[in-house]
Amino acid sequence: MQVPLLDLKAQYAKIKDEILEAVSEVLDSQRCIGGEKVEQLEKEIAQISDCRYAVGVSSGTDAILNTLMSLEIGPGDEVITTPFTFFATAGCIARVCARPVFVDIDPKTFNIDPAGIEKALTKKTRAIMPVHLFGQMADMDPIMDFAKKHNLYVIEDAAQSITSTYKGKKAGSIGAAGCFSFFPSKNLGGIGDGGMMVTNDEKLYHRAFIMRNHGMEPKYYHSFTGGNFRLDPIQAAALLVKLPYLNQWSQARRQNAYYYNKKFEGKAVQTPGINPDCVSIYNQYVIRVPRRDEVVSHLKQKNIGCEIYYPVPMHLQKCFAYLGYRQGDFPQSEKAAREVLALPIYPELTDEMKDYVADAILSFWDN
Ligand SMILES: Cc1ncc(COP(=O)(O)O)c(C=O)c1O
Repeated sequence: MQVPLLDLKAQYAKIKDEILEAVSEVLDSQRCIGGEKVEQLEKEIAQISDCRYAVGVSSGTDAILNTLMSLEIGPGDEVITTPFTFFATAGCIARVCARPVFVDIDPKTFNIDPAGIEKALTKKTRAIMPVHLFGQMADMDPIMDFAKKHNLYVIEDAAQSITSTYKGKKAGSIGAAGCFSFFPSKNLGGIGDGGMMVTNDEKLYHRAFIMRNHGMEPKYYHSFTGGNFRLDPIQAAALLVKLPYLNQWSQARRQNAYYYNKKFEGKAVQTPGINPDCVSIYNQYVIRVPRRDEVVSHLKQKNIGCEIYYPVPMHLQKCFAYLGYRQGDFPQSEKAAREVLALPIYPELTDEMKDYVADAILSFWDN
């Protein structure tokens, strides 16, 4: 048997006709930039996120970048975030010439530990950017309390967590803004790159809306410098086809996670820790195992796809050496980087496939 980490062909096979029809409609219209499909997707994503506004952009990365630019975060500013994330989180902070300031993670959830934020605060802090990693939201109440007390923006990096909840509140709806990615491997993935910012703040919405199109309003008049961060209508059309399936796909991922959890009960495998206040959409199912790299080789031999998200925390990335962090500064993130392993969790997995994956892992410990 073969079990890839993700099988997008299995998803596509079920919705191919709908996707082709929707894409073909865009092509026939030759409305190749912006337009109805983008606007409709914005409306629907805002709605499912319990937000008033949404701005479609070219990627999750650009959702973060466009938001930071719209909030005028830049040189001299600091943004508190987690070192255990995909590069884009910290990368965008650096790209606006602000300084990423890292705070270690809660080892149970892999999300930023609010208890560490106070120590990272300086006079230059302008924002906190929690990342809702692997489909589970960060512990938002203490983050929001702290942000309110110190007058900081909270920008939710919700790239991996669309429709995920914390105390019943949707990802993206709690902070000043939330940023989603439609990278194809996400629960709601496009047929290329795409992203979206959601917000309840009308002023921020207007600025972000203009920012994504060179800060241009009216046409050819620019009162501030933006970029081309526009969402492509072909992506919007495909995403509109997929959107009605999102809940059932996320539910299937949750069922798969419960299935694995049961198989791993009482074994050497540490299953994902879920905060009881959260409902995860399981964009990834990430376990911790001792001798992780040997487990990876073992799985590869059995034709099972797996991945290490993420092998090098941000504070140890070469491009961030100038920040002056050292090995040992964030022990929980460093430990996670040594132990984590993402297993196939996609909705189309059969029980037979999950058994094969779980048994392969467990057989490693029998050897
Ligand atoms: C946590 C996080 N932030 C930001 C991004 C950036 O999204 P994109 O790849 O759509 O630019 C990703 C994408 O993988 C992500 O996982």
